[in-house]
Order: sequence, then C-alpha cells, then structure tokens
Amino acid sequence: MSRVAVLKGGRSLERQVSLKSAARVVGALERRGHDVVEIDVGSDLVERLREAEADVAFIAMHGRDGEDGTVQELLELVGIPYTGSDPFACIRCWDKVLTKHALVEAGIPTPPFYAFNETAFRGLGAAQALPEIEERLEFPIVVKPASQGSALGIKFARTAAEVPKALLTAFSYDSKILLERHVAGHDLSVSILDSPDGPVVLPVVEAIAHPDDDFYDFVARYEVGRTHFACPAEIGFNSASGAQALALRAYELLGCQGFARVDLMLDATTGESFVLEVNAIPGLTTTSLLPQAAEAAGIDFDSLISRVLELALARAAA
Ligand SMILES: Nc1ncnc2c1ncn2[C@@H]1O[C@H](COP(=O)(O)OP(=O)(O)O)[C@@H](O)[C@H]1O
Ligand SMILES: [Mg+2]
Repeated sequence: MSRVAVLKGGRSLERQVSLKSAARVVGALERRGHDVVEIDVGSDLVERLREAEADVAFIAMHGRDGEDGTVQELLELVGIPYTGSDPFACIRCWDKVLTKHALVEAGIPTPPFYAFNETAFRGLGAAQALPEIEERLEFPIVVKPASQGSALGIKFARTAAEVPKALLTAFSYDSKILLERHVAGHDLSVSILDSPDGPVVLPVVEAIAHPDDDFYDFVARYEVGRTHFACPAEIGFNSASGAQALALRAYELLGCQGFARVDLMLDATTGESFVLEVNAIPGLTTTSLLPQAAEAAGIDFDSLISRVLELALARAAA
C-alpha cells in the first residue's frame, strides 16, 4: 500500500469538476487500502508536498496548473512520482494550437484552422484578414481560446457579423485563439488507458444533444441532463475503429502517459473523423466519459484508478 497525495481543486475555472473527480479518486484509493493525503492546490503547494511525504501523487485537477504541466514540473522538482503525462506532453495537449500543428505535421486529420495572438489583432491588423479566413473556413466558424476545457469560451459564428463578438469571448479566456472549420456530425470522445503492455483504446463515447437545444448554443448542451452519452457510440464498426485509431495516434504523437481523452468530430456526410483536442487529465466524476468508457470495457472505477496509480509508480521505478 502507498501513501498517496491527491492533488485537487486549484485556481482553475474547472475547480469544481476537479473537486468532484478528487472525491471519487480518494474513495477508490481508500477502498484499495492506500493512505491518502488530500492537497487543495494553492500557493503552499511545494511546502505541502514536502510535508506529505507521499510515495506518489494522484493529480485529480483539470484546467490551468493541473493540466498545463505546472504541477507536474513542481512534482518533478520535489521528486514525487505522479499520475498521467509529463510536463512536455501536458503543454502540447493544453495548447490546442500546438496540438493541431503537431497533428497536421503527423498527417492526423484535424479541422482546418487559423490561430492568432491578441497582438496580431492589436498590432498587425489581423482583423483585415478575417474576410479571407471566413471564405476559406466557411460559416459556421468555430472560435475558441487556445487553452481551457469544458467548452469554456467557445462560440459558433454563423455570419461575419458574429465573428468579432466570438473573438472577444475567446480572448477573454486566453491571449491566443483559433478560428476553426465547423464539422457537422457526431461529437465523439475516445479515452486511452495505458497498461504495462502499452496503451489500450477504450470504447467510443458519443455526446448526443437534446433535440430541443439550439445547435449554436452548444454550451447549454453541456449542462446536466441536456446531453446524453452513448457508450459504445452507435456509429458503426468502421467509424468507431477509425476514430479509435486516430485517437491512439494522437495520444502517442503527443507523448501522453497513463491516460488521456481525445475529442473528435465524425463528419456525418463524409464519414471522416477529425481530432479536436487531447485532454491530458480527463474528468473522473460519476458522469465523466473516461470512467464510462472504462466501465464499458469491463474496468470498474476502482480498478481504473489503481491502474493509473500503479503505472505512475512503475514509471518512477524504471
Ligand atoms: N470544429 C468543430 N466543429 C464542430 N463542433 C466543434 C468543433 N470544435 C468544437 N466543437 C464542439 O465544442 C465542443 C468542445 O470543443 P473542444 O475543442 O473539445 O474544446 P474543450 O472541450 O476543451 O472546451 C466539442 O466537443 C464539440 O461539441
Ligand atoms: Mg473537448
């Protein structure tokens, strides 16, 4: 049995989700007989980590600090093994622009996009390039901040008139944004779980919007009960295995470790899948997608958490 520091909360916009993930992780670890120390991550993190004298840290955080490589860097420094990906992989996943450039270079399909810093608009007249971008991407255009999760700051612009407001929203979350081609079709998530024999791809989950919901106001779809999830997704064998193959390639390309969740769109017309992003620390709440996918593959939550912890310890021992 190990002494496990569970890192939770933090300052991110996804703090509340993190607290729920952490509560569930703590339960699983305690049921397996581990000695758990909970740390709500703040300015005393380094001190608390040193005091905890933990054998390993379970990072149950989402968003800034936990998913962008910061906490991982501090754990490397303090010398405590930790779950999930290392700082470099976290950085590549956290920044959607960096992720997409890597995907394009590797030939993994991702929707076409243009990305800009605030300075490009302030000092370089990027706004003048908008008509050309709009022509190339075609409406509706998806505007999103380079970082963040849980659909925060994402807007679908239906017309040129809606683009400036969408940009302002995205810039209120990050100083870097992207404009991306909209893919009409199925909203898929493919989770990957590592094993001593290499990464295992879990069944595909599809998020299905409530029929009454406004297509453009998809943020509302994420509210409890508005969207339901089908696992395994009923999209046919070829589409499912295609999405799974892409997700595994993205996971390996970005250097993820332990676990991750890859979000994709399956084009309803062409049947082609596109990778949107990779989440280095997927949600672990009772309604989260990775635990649902693991369950569908016959891996219960406690076994999932044990596996992720053992992988962290094995990596440290290697
Ligand atoms: N290019 C796109 N085409 C269609 N829908 C998209 C596109 N990009 C994002 N979405 C929708 O927005 C959701 C969140 O986008 P995503 O890129 O996964 O960001 P995050 O989950 O980090 O907020 C997706 O699951 C999908 O429903
Ligand atoms: Mg996503």
